[in-house]
Amino acid sequence: MGLSFPPFLLLFGGVLLTPRLFCVATYCPPPDFPERGRYVPEKLKYEVGTQIQYFCTNGYPMDFIDNGWVISVKNVACQSSGEWSGQTLFCDIPIKLKNPILSSDTDSKELDGKEHKCFGYQNDTEEILQFPLDDELIPYAFFLCFTKGQGVFNIRFSPTWNFTYDTDIIKNSVCAYFSIDTYHSKTKSITIEVSSKTNSSIAVCDMIVFSKDDNWCDHPPEYSAINGQLEVNHSKAVLHCKEGFREKEGREVYATCKNNTWSYLNLKCVDTQENKKSLELTCIAESHCFPPSFIL
Ligand SMILES: *[C@@H]1O[C@H](CO)[C@@H](O)[C@H](O)[C@H]1NC(C)=O
Ligand SMILES: *[C@@H]1O[C@H](CO)[C@@H](O)[C@H](O)[C@H]1NC(C)=O
Ligand SMILES: *[C@@H]1O[C@H](CO)[C@@H](O)[C@H](O)[C@H]1NC(C)=O
Ligand SMILES: *[C@@H]1O[C@H](CO)[C@@H](O)[C@H](O)[C@H]1NC(C)=O
Ligand SMILES: *[C@@H]1O[C@H](CO)[C@@H](O)[C@H](O)[C@H]1NC(C)=O
Repeated sequence: MGLSFPPFLLLFGGVLLTPRLFCVATYCPPPDFPERGRYVPEKLKYEVGTQIQYFCTNGYPMDFIDNGWVISVKNVACQSSGEWSGQTLFCDIPIKLKNPILSSDTDSKELDGKEHKCFGYQNDTEEILQFPLDDELIPYAFFLCFTKGQGVFNIRFSPTWNFTYDTDIIKNSVCAYFSIDTYHSKTKSITIEVSSKTNSSIAVCDMIVFSKDDNWCDHPPEYSAINGQLEVNHSKAVLHCKEGFREKEGREVYATCKNNTWSYLNLKCVDTQENKKSLELTCIAESHCFPPSFIL
């Protein structure tokens, strides 16, 4: 007891020293979004607790989780801090693979899939498919699609990385997704050795490969723009100012990536009618702030 103050007095004293404590965000601004993608729902502002879901209009939704690339449906929520609970994902487009070079024509035959060319293997045969690449690339994830059957696959990003995949019995056509978390050197070709199991057959129908560029960031930029949104891919973040605002010098590129690190170019969205210099409250946009007069 002794010298203690009533709690409201303590609170009042705290408020006078740190008026920021009185800024309570009840909305989040529209979040950043991926190049070739968006999120739903789209609004001008979001109440705390609202969830949005990212999607890709082109490419595959990729999120970097625990050192690997995950194809994901991503939801983030507006938090009471006025910030989103997570960052945007990326919409990545696979590289174009040419038809593979086959080690022999006797054991395999091209099957006439509707969309894909399949390579089939009967009863204990082996085959090697080699996909030559136009450039030296750093693969980071791939799909391998099969028809029904059972087989063993050794996938080699020559010469340093290989992976063996022993399928269970596959009853319907499926694609298996693999994320390559430790592979960081370039390759000029991808090789798949396929062996079907005794009394079984299997066909490989399509391989879909994702690769990194030289300028590449695993995560989107950490810093977003006030009064604007960023449209991001792995190497660039482009600024879109919200309605009534424009970049102060008409620039677009907000940040660029080199060696997995973003550099920020100091862009700013400013009010198009720079008339009223509003109260210098440090609350973020769309927060509810008690005006100073209320506090005094
Ligand atoms: C696959 O990699 C392992 C080491 O991780 C190596 O011992 C093996 O020879 C490789 N196999 C092929 C077919 O390249
Ligand atoms: C293959 O299947 C047939 C009949 O299902 C069986 O008679 C034969 O022993 C099997 N062969 C092997 C090597 O498992
Ligand atoms: C392979 O095995 C399947 C199932 O046992 C059989 O129906 C088929 O005739 C065999 N094909 C060849 C080429 O031996
Ligand atoms: C990112 O977008 C820029 C254009 O804004 C483009 O030049 C670049 O190739 C893209 N990078 C990736 C990794 O998609
Ligand atoms: C890129 O980053 C890695 C680790 O962050 C570092 O070891 C390497 O020296 C960097 N390379 C360049 C060219 O800056």
